[in-house]
Amino acid sequence: MSLAREDMLRELELLPAWQLRQPAQRTVVEPLPAIEAVESPVVAVEVVAPIVVEETPQAVPVPVEVISNLSSESAATETEGELLPQTIEFSPDRRAAIMKMDWDSLQHAVAECHACGLADTRMQTVFGVGDPNAEWLIIGEAPGAEEDRKGEPFVGQAGKLLDNMLAAIKLKRGENVFIANVLKCRPPQNRDPQGEEVVKCDPFLKRQVELIQPKLILALGKFAAQSILNSESTIASLRGKTHDFHGVPVIVTYHPAYLLRNLADKSKAWEDLCFAVTTLQRLQSADIPQS
Ligand code: URA
Repeated sequence: MSLAREDMLRELELLPAWQLRQPAQRTVVEPLPAIEAVESPVVAVEVVAPIVVEETPQAVPVPVEVISNLSSESAATETEGELLPQTIEFSPDRRAAIMKMDWDSLQHAVAECHACGLADTRMQTVFGVGDPNAEWLIIGEAPGAEEDRKGEPFVGQAGKLLDNMLAAIKLKRGENVFIANVLKCRPPQNRDPQGEEVVKCDPFLKRQVELIQPKLILALGKFAAQSILNSESTIASLRGKTHDFHGVPVIVTYHPAYLLRNLADKSKAWEDLCFAVTTLQRLQSADIPQS
């Protein structure tokens, strides 16, 4: 990948606006590595788990009635003579059924989901956006107010910065990139997601990963990173390493909303993006059979 370094810095708003916006802090922007220079990354590369993509089970369309029942908080429901268990929302059957869904069934199941209380306060669910065959899967925390209104992830100010970050590594929303969140519904008043909400939403994200089969996941922010890695570690300790989510390598970086408030950490996010690019290049070259 050959990018003009100046162009990339501009995309990340590191030139020259950054210096003008916070003159009082006298922020000094350290020279950032060009992507080629990150062959030996600034941060330590520790492969925490082997990079192996799990075999994806066969996707089958799931009847709409079954999806609605899976998503309902109501008690037992009859579908074509079959009585679903009263405890469907808490039973492994819900997860197992989601794990068999194809893309359309999954989208429908998310749209109809009432598995937790967020269904009562959301305007609409936010399934995710982009290329369902993308190599890059970007995972954020949960929809905010604007996302809740529009039904698309990262459409607010943080979304604009995310688009700039993607542009800096020559990626574009919708082209070889899929963007999703850990939670598909907005927590009211943008409060932190709760454990039960994450547990209920987790099968949806897991199935998205299985169907998309991305080459790399970029986790945005502490919440997304900790949820998908089932970890309580800090962002600082999770950055610069390759982790694993169901067989897909995961790289952690700062959430764009955090970067909007902490401009000085943009350079670290840039390191993370470079690390992600070189990791993906490494994976792709490992895929090419040697002649
Ligand atoms: N923040 C997120 O984590 N996700 C969104 O979709 C929007 C803001």
